Amino acid sequence: MNKARLLSGMQPTGLLHLGNLEGALANWVKLQDQYEAYFVIVDWHALTTLYDRPELIREYTLQVAMDFLAAGLDPERCAIFVQSHVKQHAELHLLLSMITPLGWLERVPTYKEKREQLRSKTVHYGLLGYPVLQAADILLYKANVVPVGRDQLPHLELAREIGRRFNHIYSPIFPDCEALLTDYPEMPGLDGRKMSKSYDNAIYISDTPEQTAAKVRTMYTDPLKIHKTDPGHPQGCAVYGMLEAYDRADMHEDCEAGRIGCVDCKKRLADFLNPRLAPIRARRAELEQHPERLDDILASGAEKARRVASETMAEVRSAMNLG
Ligand code: TRP
Ligand code: SF4
Repeated sequence: MNKARLLSGMQPTGLLHLGNLEGALANWVKLQDQYEAYFVIVDWHALTTLYDRPELIREYTLQVAMDFLAAGLDPERCAIFVQSHVKQHAELHLLLSMITPLGWLERVPTYKEKREQLRSKTVHYGLLGYPVLQAADILLYKANVVPVGRDQLPHLELAREIGRRFNHIYSPIFPDCEALLTDYPEMPGLDGRKMSKSYDNAIYISDTPEQTAAKVRTMYTDPLKIHKTDPGHPQGCAVYGMLEAYDRADMHEDCEAGRIGCVDCKKRLADFLNPRLAPIRARRAELEQHPERLDDILASGAEKARRVASETMAEVRSAMNLG
């Protein structure tokens, strides 16, 4: 039986946190058996923001790979690889760039935002081409489904449009790819804003149980609830929000009635998180002891990926009359 193909990617721009774990990785782990799955660490994409710190990208690539494996992606059941190890991504990106209208790229919301943020700094060509590279990632494997967050929908739409345009101009090679959206409650960070490495409010997969408990103790709660007996407001409390994301928030009434205090509540959260993370941390610790295993896994992932990628590129070159 032939399974449908699935591909997703993550940028190696930092360590992965609970938001990444519960929002994406945990879902990928479930999907790896239902599909012929490819998970790519997109180090070339990371250059759009970290072009002047490539040594960081190298380090994060290994860290993200360890986080993937720790979370339960299994190299026997899916392909885990690094984008720059499979050069066909660059070749397809170049060819697709020839048939991608500039207007399509200038309209992409993430491009417009980034360009605004950079304001006085130089805007590089690679930033505009980011979605073309992403389209190449997807089309190279003829992926049918792409699990992503809502923020990635414009990129996916563009990948579909570029694939269709190729099919129309040359010959029908690429299938339509479909976003696989999973709705999960947003993971709040320590300060109550969305968990994000750029807000410095994250609990990382690689944190120790002690670091986790210490971070939980600093979490934002209802500032008006000073004593246990003060009536609290769980809405807006980061501890409550995080428990809610895990479907473990059952202290609503006790909080409001002053029957539970924030210290106890935080203890409950840490006591929930640490056992949940224990098997993940154990796998990560094991990998840290064997860096050569990680190299082997990424090498065989790239090999698996290259088999499909070189087949697709042979078709693409032939369709375009290229050598
Ligand atoms: N742009 C995606 C993000 O920032 C990462 C990514 C690159 C990706 N290539 C991909 C996601 C291909 C899905 C499929 O999250
Ligand atoms: Fe938040 Fe719990 Fe404190 Fe209520 S008791 S404010 S839910 S930490």
